[in-house]
Amino acid sequence: MIARMACGGVEGVDAFRVDIEVDFSRQGLPAFTLVGLAEGAVREARDRVFSALRASGFRLPPGRITVNMAPAGKKKAGTAYDLPLAVGLLAASGVIPHDNIQGWFLAGELSLTGHLKAVAGMLPVSILAGKEGARGFLVPEENAAEAAIVRDMPVYGLKTLGECVSFLLGKKELVPEVFSSAAATDGVTVCADFLEVKGQLAAKRALEIAAAGGHNVLLMGPPGSGKTMLAQRLPSILPPLSFEEALEVTKIYSVADLLASGSGLLQVRPFRSPHHTASEIALIGGGHSPRPGEVSLAHRGVLFLDELPEYKKQTLEVLRQPLEDGVVTISRAARTVTYPAACMLVAAMNPCPCGYAGDPLHECSCSAMQIARYRSRLSGPLLDRIDLHVEVPAVPYEDLQARSGGVSSATIRSRVVLARQRQEVRYAGKKCCCNAELAGSLLEEYCRLDAAGHALLENAMRRLALSARAYTRILRLARTIADLAGEEQILPEFLAEAIALRVLDRVMQ
Ligand SMILES: Nc1ncnc2c1ncn2[C@@H]1O[C@H](COP(=O)(O)OP(=O)(O)OP(=O)(O)O)[C@@H](O)[C@H]1O
Ligand SMILES: [Mg+2]
Ligand SMILES: [Zn+2]
Repeated sequence: MIARMACGGVEGVDAFRVDIEVDFSRQGLPAFTLVGLAEGAVREARDRVFSALRASGFRLPPGRITVNMAPAGKKKAGTAYDLPLAVGLLAASGVIPHDNIQGWFLAGELSLTGHLKAVAGMLPVSILAGKEGARGFLVPEENAAEAAIVRDMPVYGLKTLGECVSFLLGKKELVPEVFSSAAATDGVTVCADFLEVKGQLAAKRALEIAAAGGHNVLLMGPPGSGKTMLAQRLPSILPPLSFEEALEVTKIYSVADLLASGSGLLQVRPFRSPHHTASEIALIGGGHSPRPGEVSLAHRGVLFLDELPEYKKQTLEVLRQPLEDGVVTISRAARTVTYPAACMLVAAMNPCPCGYAGDPLHECSCSAMQIARYRSRLSGPLLDRIDLHVEVPAVPYEDLQARSGGVSSATIRSRVVLARQRQEVRYAGKKCCCNAELAGSLLEEYCRLDAAGHALLENAMRRLALSARAYTRILRLARTIADLAGEEQILPEFLAEAIALRVLDRVMQ
């Protein structure tokens, strides 16, 4: 008898359907054959499955077992196939009637004792099951909240193989998992509030502008001035994630196996801060069985590169393509995998190796040579992706003493949301969704200056010897500042503020 079980394999952040066909025959010598490009963990499924079956009180009659995982041309990895394989064996040997398994999707790892363990990538598989019109999806209990984000079919969380079989035999009732956005935990980021940052009004204003236009930022200041603190709070002023965006983010964490047990939809924008010693693979993804890297884990959120000059040039170079395209493509011998990677980049650095150049209270002990060498370590092409340079000076004592840091993240966020809405309306149907993406003809069209604006910018460019690179960035920033002010026209005062947000253009020359 042949039983066919439906489940899914993960490629990138999406799932493809896998059918596990189990043929059980009493004739011939007992044997077990597994075909269909199964990799390591899947090959070992046999031992786990037989132990789990035995421990759960099922005895299979002796016979020849052939398992085919279709489509045979695609690699199957991971342990999610344990449960469908075990149930397939029971169905093929007549323990569970075929009608009872028809239409169900199953996934989960089995322990030797028959308990179900969480597996990675359940959200993409659940989306697939929904699309395929599954009767329901049976998953380990810890994956149930994640799988239930898809509301196309009932999702049941299970503790053991025995429970799964009783349910399929109609001997046990289970309550389907309910999607609840309120109960969704994030497990990734605990978002702090700008209220806690005292003083630093200019830096906060700059981050508000960055958030409003989706601009990448470089924070520059002496040690302990609060650069890390400010960057960590950027997600709290970005617009709330839409359901679609939250789904994208949760899928990435799902396939990276980084969702906390029992966690559902992630609703906080991610904040990732990879160390400067992180490898290229850790940053952009890849590896033997490809995994999303930090740029993808920061998708729809913030990627924070602290101590920017400490990163190897080569490492920063690989970030260029994803930052530009919003996706990473990883080519491996046999296949190409794509992960989303649309994140905001926030970088931080000290102004010099000792950290105190320009600080009124500390003397800088670096030579001009040392400072020049330190700054030259910044990769030009990466700097090209950064619209704002912000100075974060040491906080004066009076500011630290203040009771609160002024404006809360919620207030700033509401202003950011309004500015984003203006951009959405303006760029509807265009190849651009926020000011940071303005380029070419769109930049010309939407960043028109009046005569006073032209005069101001021309004067500043000459006086500060600004480059063409700086020019487009200043226009984009001025556009965002105008949007925050609710103005369609870019007024000279907006340009002036934008010019001030390009610190490096001045100090580096
Ligand atoms: N503006 C501020 N308001 C309140 N506390 C602050 C402020 N700035 C700094 N601090 C305090 O100083 C600590 C150090 O700040 P933070 O780590 O953000 O500095 P940094 O600029 O990233 O320093 P480094 O260059 O050494 O990485 C913070 O944890 C916080 O307690
Ligand atoms: Mg820091
Ligand atoms: Zn110094």
